[in-house]
Amino acid sequence: MRDPGLVAAPSADAATVRVTFEYVAWATVWLLVGTTIGLIASIKLHWPEFLPYAWLSFGRVRPAHTSLVLLGWASHALVGLSLYVVSRTSRVPLWSPRLARIALWLWNLALLGGLVTLLAGVNRGPQEYREWVWPLAVILAAAVLIDGYVAYRTVAARTLPEVYVSNWYILGGFCYLPILYVTSYLPFYQAGLGNTVVAGYYMHNAMGMWFTQLALGVSYYAIPRLLGRPVYSYALGVLGFWTNLLFYPLIGAHHFIFSPVPWWLQSTAILFSVGMMVPVWAGTGNLLLTFKGGGGAVRRSYALPFLVTGLIGYSLSSTQGTIEAFRTANIYLHFTNFTVGHSHATMYGFITFIAWGAVYGLVPRLTGREPSPLAVGVHFWLALVGVLTYVIAISIAGILQGLAWVAGQSFIVSVIAAEPMWLWRTIGGLLMVGGHVVFAANVWAMRPPRATVPAPSPSAVGIPA
Ligand code: HEM
Ligand code: HEM
Repeated sequence: MRDPGLVAAPSADAATVRVTFEYVAWATVWLLVGTTIGLIASIKLHWPEFLPYAWLSFGRVRPAHTSLVLLGWASHALVGLSLYVVSRTSRVPLWSPRLARIALWLWNLALLGGLVTLLAGVNRGPQEYREWVWPLAVILAAAVLIDGYVAYRTVAARTLPEVYVSNWYILGGFCYLPILYVTSYLPFYQAGLGNTVVAGYYMHNAMGMWFTQLALGVSYYAIPRLLGRPVYSYALGVLGFWTNLLFYPLIGAHHFIFSPVPWWLQSTAILFSVGMMVPVWAGTGNLLLTFKGGGGAVRRSYALPFLVTGLIGYSLSSTQGTIEAFRTANIYLHFTNFTVGHSHATMYGFITFIAWGAVYGLVPRLTGREPSPLAVGVHFWLALVGVLTYVIAISIAGILQGLAWVAGQSFIVSVIAAEPMWLWRTIGGLLMVGGHVVFAANVWAMRPPRATVPAPSPSAVGIPA
């Protein structure tokens, strides 16, 4: 059987349903394209003659991979789900599905432009995760502002007095992203050492103040909803929100430990990286405690295992990040593949699993259509075994590289040591991409029927929204 409450299925107005599904469907398209490109990048590292074309050289496919998976997959999926969550928790239809759809198309336009320009070698140079030329960045910014406005107007029109904790996180993410984007594109912030500090600020806050905020916002709705019980502690949720806001903005310099960035700024970043344990464990503790006594539901549900895995991924990989920030560890790990392992443990093990859990848990309620539980299981295991293979292999590669460098050995020694692990990363990547194909089939199985979708069923299951 499925998630509790699925029988009561479709529970939102038809326009909200359609636009939410369109976001999820486009996110799936970008996931397939973006991770296939990631796979090409991976193969090239142990088989450099593979696809020897300029437009598929490693320096071009890498930013194409990161921009598509970060902005095309993770952002798209989480924005679509967030629009649904703000509407449901406010007990009103989405303020303007039409505007949300316009934002979706602007977003797709920017992504397509980003893919073509990056593969053609047109970019802003070594500005990680913001390699797109500025006209594309402007289109993307317009899309984010429109989505944020639609979310805000929906919450403002709510029929309940309180703002549910999900909406704190979601609106927080929409408020913070424009600040981040402006700082990272304004030309007078992009010179000399200041550019390095801005790069660290942008990279980490995109992760912490955008992806993490939206993923937690969606989790605070989806988990209680699927379990049919209220969240363990509202107060812990709010504590997590404010401490995330307190500690995250100042940890960017931990990307540049031992660099010419002022020593005090590096030390502050390390200290605040330790502080990050408060929101991380408040958030995961709170959401995992919500599962207390709900083991049966987890066993019966095909969505909850993704959400549990995502939460475990969040706590473990963030704790790994805190350890990596210490100078004693960073001296061995910085510049190595270990950080790539951390990136995938977080962006895949946390963000992507949460997005999948929410898609499987919420979309059938919207459309009244379910995927085959067997196919969802195949997706889960391919993705989990794939990402574990990827992360373990590439972390070992990183440790071997770090040990070789600190021992003062020649660079080629570290390359020879890491090479077998790059092959294992490709094997893990193949499983992951296989899982994404199954996910795409499952999304197709959940598509809304052509007929009108039934009206809301407002008496949910005792969650405050
Ligand atoms: C307590 C929370 C966290 C801490 C203290 C932390 C710490 C770190 C550190 C120290 C690095 C840089 C390592 C180096 O280059 O030497 C790093 C990189 C990175 N982290 Fe985290 N991390 C945390 C959580 C997260 C989360 C939740 C995400 C994703 C949602 C994330 C995504 C990334 C990514 C993508 C990079 C690579 C950035 C690059 O391209 O250089 N981290 N993290
Ligand atoms: C939704 C899934 C994925 C997300 C969100 C994701 C995210 C990322 C991020 C943030 C980076 C930058 C890492 C850093 O600089 O520390 C990266 C790099 C990379 N990813 Fe992925 N990735 C995903 C799936 C995959 C898959 C399936 C593969 C296939 C093997 C892959 C292969 C790579 C490679 C080869 C790099 C470049 C690493 C390097 O520069 O040495 N990724 N990815």
